[in-house]
Amino acid sequence: MAYYIRPMYRQDIDDVTEIDHEAFPTQWPPADYQYEIRNKLARYIVVCDDEQVVSQPQEENLEESKAAGWFTRFWRWLNNNRTPGNKTLPGIRHYVIGFTGFWTIAEEAHIIIIAVRETYRRMGIGELLLISLVELAMKQKAQVITLEVRVSNTVAQNLYLKYGFNGVGTRKGYYIDRVGNSESREDGLIMTTQDINSTEYQERFRELKQAHTEKCGALPKQQV
Ligand SMILES: CC(C)(COP(=O)(O)OP(=O)(O)OC[C@H]1O[C@@H](n2cnc3c(N)ncnc32)[C@H](O)[C@@H]1OP(=O)(O)O)[C@@H](O)C(=O)NCCC(=O)NCCS
Repeated sequence: MAYYIRPMYRQDIDDVTEIDHEAFPTQWPPADYQYEIRNKLARYIVVCDDEQVVSQPQEENLEESKAAGWFTRFWRWLNNNRTPGNKTLPGIRHYVIGFTGFWTIAEEAHIIIIAVRETYRRMGIGELLLISLVELAMKQKAQVITLEVRVSNTVAQNLYLKYGFNGVGTRKGYYIDRVGNSESREDGLIMTTQDINSTEYQERFRELKQAHTEKCGALPKQQV
């Protein structure tokens, strides 16, 4: 399978919402990606399977690409001057298989979500998304990365622990679930990294990224 990462665009919202509903079927309130895509504090990344074409180029995509702002320019810089906006969306749109997003507030990058389609899990894609997110946070001069995760979600906690996040507290009843008329709550575990710019973190991150590359083959293709 060939896959690649790029920023999330408006055209991805249906796919992303589908993945969200699959991963968090009872979570309340539902996420509003129409809002998130316009939120200047937020950055969302998707990973696509480039063997599955969803749609062909459209004029509106070309217009959107022309209007690309600093984020796309920043993305070009991050990806060796390749421009996702000029090729990915105006070109063929591929099936989105996972996504992540974070907000940057002052020196803190706060992970809002990370999710991979069930049929694509355990293939290193969640890790690829986290690696990309950490790199983007570093480029944005964030110092720490934080998040909340359900206390029961040991799968995600394992991923975060691997990347140097540690539990630092809990938020009581942070998550609300609704099934029919019944509502329940679950505590959120607060996790945070040390300073991601520290030599110690950077070295550990480099090692993890290298190990991921070796395990998952060559670096995922960047469709740009
Ligand atoms: C969490 C999630 C994104 C991981 O994605 P993934 O692509 O399956 O994960 P990867 O294959 O990249 O695995 C990376 C690491 O995650 C952890 N992990 C992933 N699946 C795991 C499992 N079933 N059991 C234990 N640890 C697991 C491991 O630490 C793994 O590293 P390893 O391969 O060295 O053991 C995915 O399970 C998911 O979408 N879950 C539902 C949504 C969710 O809970 N999101 C997090 C809260 S916002």
